[in-house]
Amino acid sequence: MWQCCRAAAWQRHIATAERYHLGCSVLRTRKGPLVTAQIICMANFKGGVGKSTTAVNLAACLANAGNRTLLADCDPQANASEMFIPEDEIEFDFRSIIADRVPTEKAVRQTRIKGLDVLPATFDLALLDKELVVSPNGVQRIERALRPITGGYDFIVMDTGPNLSHLTLGALVASHHIIIPVSATVWSTTGLRKFVRWIDENREQEIIDAELLGLLATMVMSRTRIGRDVVGEMRNSPWPTFETMIPKRIGAEDAVFTRAVAGEPGVDDKFSEAYLAFAKEVIAFVRRSKRGSHRAN
Ligand SMILES: Nc1ncnc2c1ncn2[C@@H]1O[C@H](COP(=O)(O)OP(=O)(O)OP(=O)(O)O)[C@@H](O)[C@H]1O
Ligand SMILES: [Mg+2]
Repeated sequence: MWQCCRAAAWQRHIATAERYHLGCSVLRTRKGPLVTAQIICMANFKGGVGKSTTAVNLAACLANAGNRTLLADCDPQANASEMFIPEDEIEFDFRSIIADRVPTEKAVRQTRIKGLDVLPATFDLALLDKELVVSPNGVQRIERALRPITGGYDFIVMDTGPNLSHLTLGALVASHHIIIPVSATVWSTTGLRKFVRWIDENREQEIIDAELLGLLATMVMSRTRIGRDVVGEMRNSPWPTFETMIPKRIGAEDAVFTRAVAGEPGVDDKFSEAYLAFAKEVIAFVRRSKRGSHRAN
């Protein structure tokens, strides 16, 4: 019954959103936001697969397409945050809003990209994990902390660390959609099945409600056999996989060095184009999705 109401509410929302939507924005209307932001979590317990790179560039592309977007950094490594704000300029971070109860709006920072804000992380966020473990309903505290600001965004893109910590679980609890970046390398699919099973178990226990939007192949070298095999394996898996593949480009590392993101001057064209195509797919996937309306205002 509840599921049914949720689906009906989502259909109503989509119909209204489509009547008013501007440009690429799925959720903007001339009258302002209809529902709270669609929250998308980058997750994979394997490290170095492109989670932060994807979170940063997806968020930038969504903002460039006219969507009010928040990049929420839920990883104490703070790689995503550093692309926009140096750590020594961060007064309040994700931990401040949860542990110190600083109002969430105070921690949010504007970036150089129009329409893109960041809720930054610092190393202190690592301390929050223990606090979430011992606090009652700890894994729901990220969702609660984001609640006051979700109405101000079309999308919130969350980055997480390479682990199954309470922080990662808390980010998944707060999300509607999950994207799993998978690097096209030999070990990349090892453990993927177990990771998806872990997500499914948490969903069965009604700890998380987010759906798997799709797997994203990153750092793909299409000319190598390994690259082709890994992408083939992903496409033949039971899980949805984005058509777009992010190519392996030397320019990706240069972009981190110069703190530049897709679409900005000097960023490798193929890298930028791939993330732009991916962002369009994400918008289309979210449009088709039935999830998200349960958090509507
Ligand atoms: N398309 C690409 N081509 C080449 N290098 C890339 C590409 N995408 C990401 N990289 C590089 O790969 C490394 C790992 O990427 P990233 O930090 O995004 O992974 P991650 O999954 O967030 O890592 P962690 O698990 O440590 O958080 C970085 O040095 C990044 O610059
Ligand atoms: Mg990362």
